[in-house]
Amino acid sequence: MARHFRGIALRYREMRELDARAVRRVSFELEQLAEQTNSLAILDVGAGTGRYAEAVVHGVSKRTGLRYRGVAYDAIPEMLRGGPAHQPKDTGGMDRAIGFAEFLPFAAQSFSAVLSFNAVHHFDLPAFLAEAARVVRLKGRLILYTRTPEQNQRTIWGQLFPHFAERETRLYSKSTLRAALGAITDFESIELREMQWTIRTSLSRLLEQARSGGYSTFRFYSADEFEEALDTFEIRVRATFDDPAAITAQNDHLLVLAPRR
Ligand SMILES: C[S@@+](CC[C@H](N)C(=O)[O-])C[C@H]1O[C@@H](n2cnc3c(N)ncnc32)[C@H](O)[C@@H]1O
Repeated sequence: MARHFRGIALRYREMRELDARAVRRVSFELEQLAEQTNSLAILDVGAGTGRYAEAVVHGVSKRTGLRYRGVAYDAIPEMLRGGPAHQPKDTGGMDRAIGFAEFLPFAAQSFSAVLSFNAVHHFDLPAFLAEAARVVRLKGRLILYTRTPEQNQRTIWGQLFPHFAERETRLYSKSTLRAALGAITDFESIELREMQWTIRTSLSRLLEQARSGGYSTFRFYSADEFEEALDTFEIRVRATFDDPAAITAQNDHLLVLAPRR
């Protein structure tokens, strides 16, 4: 997977859609948190280019005028490169740090919120959650944005790309997430909220996303299997949608909100 993320790093941002509704929901949560304090310290784990944390902190600081410190943290330096690290603070600029989610090199209770978008299925869940609980402040938030296996099955990839959903075995179910979070007694409550998200896309973009490895699931196909599956996908998309240049599809996610005691 490290090779996968190194390979896609420079194109990752343009190859993935940004869920604006999730950005608004997470921003709202952070604004509420910020009412109790006059600064925010945000850690985004498995941040990649940091595009989600950047959108969130930019929106929050613009609306509230709050000072913030954002850290985009990822195991793959290439993913962080080209991200928000070098931007000015008022456009979502953040610090960046390299390391694994299972060992966070930060002092206890040093962040108002720990966020992770589209990444938790790559982590050793108990180890990451224990670390997240350690570095988040009392009354702070752990916020995870992920997709369950059932949601993955309902995406356009899960529906039409042969074997996509069954080859992706890393995603956590709601019950696994709930049990893992419940095992950490530091969290006051656990809310799992299914978020509806409609994407507007096109066949050419979908084919480009698959070819460029926009989703790491494609790594679970041999080159021949992938080409065959891609041909079948194209045929199915053409048969399913009237206009392949204007496709509307569901792309639902799960938002996990866990306030720290
Ligand atoms: C699918 S990408 C998501 C990136 C970003 N959060 C986004 O939504 O654009 C997953 C990210 O997790 C990182 N990652 C995978 N395993 C990791 C680990 N154990 N510790 C830290 N980062 C990890 C990868 O390098 C990659 O950047």
